[in-house]
Amino acid sequence: MNKIRSLKWGVAIAAYQTEGAYNKDGKGLSIWDTFTQKPYRIKDRSNAKIATDFYHRFEEDIDLAVDIGLQIFRFSVSWSRIFPNGTGVANPKGIEFYNKVINYCLKVGIEPWITTYHWDLPQKLQDKGGWTNRDSISWYAAYVTILRNHFADRVKHWILINEGIVCMGGGYFLGVHAPGKRGIRNFISSTHHLLLAQAEGFKILKKREGLQVGTAISCTKIEPYRNTNADHKAAIRIDTLMNRLFIEPHLGLGYPDNDFPALKRISKFYKKGDIEALKADFDFWGIQTYAREVVKAAWYIPYLRAIQVKPEKRNVKTSVMGWETYPEGVQYFLERFAKYSPKKTLWLSECGVALSKNEDDQKRIEYYQKVIEGMKTVLDKNINLKGILLWTLIDNFEWAEGYIPKFGIISLDRKTMHRKMKISALWLKKYLSNIKL
Ligand code: BGC
Repeated sequence: MNKIRSLKWGVAIAAYQTEGAYNKDGKGLSIWDTFTQKPYRIKDRSNAKIATDFYHRFEEDIDLAVDIGLQIFRFSVSWSRIFPNGTGVANPKGIEFYNKVINYCLKVGIEPWITTYHWDLPQKLQDKGGWTNRDSISWYAAYVTILRNHFADRVKHWILINEGIVCMGGGYFLGVHAPGKRGIRNFISSTHHLLLAQAEGFKILKKREGLQVGTAISCTKIEPYRNTNADHKAAIRIDTLMNRLFIEPHLGLGYPDNDFPALKRISKFYKKGDIEALKADFDFWGIQTYAREVVKAAWYIPYLRAIQVKPEKRNVKTSVMGWETYPEGVQYFLERFAKYSPKKTLWLSECGVALSKNEDDQKRIEYYQKVIEGMKTVLDKNINLKGILLWTLIDNFEWAEGYIPKFGIISLDRKTMHRKMKISALWLKKYLSNIKL
């Protein structure tokens, strides 16, 4: 109990999933605004033009977080609200909105954290190739500079890129997320530029003293299907892609291309000094883990040479997201990432479970109880875990899955926009008030 008490508890949200007001007060369109307009991209044919209407209801939502006893409010900035065209002159109304959010957090006593990029690139920049264009490094640098100049006097914790593998893999390799691009060339060029941009963003923020600057890493437990050499190698390849690609270049370890040979092609996009420029000695890493995947060798799948064995084929229950929910991943990844050198401060910067609208919210409580067990174990091993941010406060727009999965501890009636604490929120409130004793 003692060590759990030393942890900070918070919540995480993201701009496109919650804000709505997609064209209000001078905001430009983002790649998600345009992607959701294309046919058959979103499971329930929805979009986030309104989402949870955080833009107009942020005070109510922040109050709810405070009422539950949470200490950190992590939100992302919508790039196209700040720069409607992606670059150029900043939109004063966009700056004003985030000033209001930050000031309100401070007023009611919850710490604001900023994520600079949670997948919603301005469409105007996508029109120029998006992250496949090397200019994206300077676009992002200009954007981060503006954020720092306006907000770093009050916001001390910054997360640069949220889950590089998910936005690059989904958006530039598989085409299932915005901007819907496919293919290895798109994937590796955009990945290289995103990592360089993130390292540049780190330097820009660290010019200001006193900031804690980190990144948020998507972590998925990968296991081989059969105990064969081929399946073990397949698991290593997918693990490299999912869990190492977005951290090792920043540590100066280069790209892990021995274990995932297709990455050797990245060298086509190198410019002199890139390997050095990729280094970023983050103040912390945000670990975000949801699922376990089991893979087997498949020579016919290009580049990956592996295929996923779906949970239902393994007699494991699939969540509404189609994945196997895996709270045990919390302990596994905290222990694993604690082994990297140099040692980093770790946060669980997202953590949650997707339920369908008919599932009992009790399952969410059970999920978080398992997470707490995992955290206790790693704290006993003296791993430098600082806190946990829940994903997420209110049921929101879950990307290509629309509004079907429910990740919130608070439900939303989308007709009235009424918010209601679920039993998991009430449980958490009680739990937090007890551990403060
Ligand atoms: C993302 C969130 C997303 C959640 C559940 C994370 O990968 O950062 O935006 O809603 O997982 O899929």
